[in-house]
Amino acid sequence: MSKILVTRNMPEKFIDQLREGHEVIVWEEFDKAIPRETLLEQSKDVDAMMTMMSDQIDSEVLENAENLKVVANFAVGYDNFDLDAFKQHDVIGTNTPDVLTETTAELGFSIMMSLARRIVEADHFMKNGEWTGWSPFLLSGTDIFNKTVGIYGMGSIGTAFARRLQGFNCNVLYHNRSRNDEAEQLTGAKYCEFDELVQSSDIVVCTAPLNDGTKDKFNKETFDKMKESALFVNIGRGGHVVEEDLLEAIQSESIKGAALDVFREEPMKTDHPFLKEDRIVTTPHIGSATVDTRDKMIQLCVDNILNVLDGKDPITPINK
Ligand code: GLV
Ligand code: GLV
Repeated sequence: MSKILVTRNMPEKFIDQLREGHEVIVWEEFDKAIPRETLLEQSKDVDAMMTMMSDQIDSEVLENAENLKVVANFAVGYDNFDLDAFKQHDVIGTNTPDVLTETTAELGFSIMMSLARRIVEADHFMKNGEWTGWSPFLLSGTDIFNKTVGIYGMGSIGTAFARRLQGFNCNVLYHNRSRNDEAEQLTGAKYCEFDELVQSSDIVVCTAPLNDGTKDKFNKETFDKMKESALFVNIGRGGHVVEEDLLEAIQSESIKGAALDVFREEPMKTDHPFLKEDRIVTTPHIGSATVDTRDKMIQLCVDNILNVLDGKDPITPINK
């Protein structure tokens, strides 16, 4: 009987599917990552694992788990996987693309609009009883319609974001490792160099995957090139941003504001300086967090695992 480790508590209807013909171990917590030691201990003799972004799956894990055939990551991003080690140990990695694309674009849109129209500040203002009368520039923000929006990373999520911007009559620029003709045709987005993107955009949106080429891309030099009125939105990974440089750019008003769903350290410390800034909107990495989409992501992980254990091809492999 094959053995499967699931590194986070999941609804029974999904675990039950894995239990048919397999032994399944489930880490009991919903809100806390499996400790590294426990992961190493419990993965020792498993054939398959379903993992979270918070689990580092590296050569130590793969060497230790001798029977391992497949690791299904509960995310589209897989920067927590050491792909060289996967190759060396002949283990298949899978992710959850496509099912979360529209949902993640919508979260990006939500925090962009919240920042532009100061929705979070306005809500605090109301709840603090500060509304004493109408005034012409009370909580006045910035428009999105007709603006130039630059998308860094034109994969499926970037494309879904650009499609939404069409409804706002925006001029959409993008930068990507390679040109994306399909996205250009679908959304009217125009390819440009990274420097031009950050220099000419009113809103810069990062939807890129994290890798050696994209890490730390948003640093002092980048923020210095942006307009003083620029808004920065990040739904990629915290690793794309040098956080001290972003904080400095906001505090010195070299850019206007930021909306961030992802951070270098997650969860961040409660005294993180971003949490004190009105001009930074934060959400706790909930890009794909709708009930429907999370269900689809779990089902895709389950199907990937069951396929591989049945000797079939995985549905969404990262590596071949
Ligand atoms: C979330 O960030 C994901 O990669 O799915
Ligand atoms: C990245 O943007 C993706 O959708 O894979």
